[in-house]
Amino acid sequence: MLHFNPVEYNNWLIRLDIIDSTNNYAMQLLQDGMAQSGTVVSAKFQSAGKGQRGKLWRSSPGQNVAMSLILADMQHMDMFRLAFLVPVSVRQVLQSFMPECQVLIKWPNDIYVNDRKICGILIENVFRGSSLRSAVIGIGINVNQSDFGLPDKVPTSLLLETGRAHVPEDIIAAVRAAVLKGLERSSGSLWQEYNRFLWKRDTCVRLGMATSGELLQGTVQGVNADFELVVRRDDGELCRFSFGSVQWL
Ligand code: BTN
Repeated sequence: MLHFNPVEYNNWLIRLDIIDSTNNYAMQLLQDGMAQSGTVVSAKFQSAGKGQRGKLWRSSPGQNVAMSLILADMQHMDMFRLAFLVPVSVRQVLQSFMPECQVLIKWPNDIYVNDRKICGILIENVFRGSSLRSAVIGIGINVNQSDFGLPDKVPTSLLLETGRAHVPEDIIAAVRAAVLKGLERSSGSLWQEYNRFLWKRDTCVRLGMATSGELLQGTVQGVNADFELVVRRDDGELCRFSFGSVQWL
């Protein structure tokens, strides 16, 4: 694995200059039994940052947050609770850094501001038997980047939205604290907060079915406790979509 200059700044942060992926580094620590719950691996630059659905996560060196929070040997944690907890916690933190903006959660776990993506989340779960035991929570936040070099689907950043530069390390510490504190919350309260800040809720949207390519138009009702997107089709039928089965158009 490619990495240089791992520096342990305090008892929970491992800061790397360059790494293929902080998620990979964190997963290796976990597999080697070297990871304590609450440890964060962060990097100034990832040469092969991992995004959802096998995509690459690209980010300018030194300007943004690329962090992986390790949760090890968890008791009584299920996949869905974690799926609600992480975006809810990250959203709260970003909202506190940019009070003038409306920060929303795009199902399943992107964070959006002004209809543009500011943060992506990639959770990698480790099961023992059928129970979730550990997880690497990968979080990429666009902080001080202003040029993304993309013609369409342009992301945004804290700098672009607020006009102010922010210190990535402050955001890393706040995200870690929020997720760890959120572990104490009930599933019900996380689910409610997730839906309260759900992007496009009560709005008409178009979706594409991942397998058939079929298109659907309807109004987003919310996300249910099984983490399915619930949409009322224009013909009145209520449809539920699991993670990965549908794409926003
Ligand atoms: C997405 O596609 O939206 C998810 C992006 C997740 C990116 C973060 S950056 C830190 C961590 N390490 C990775 O390789 N990916 C995640």
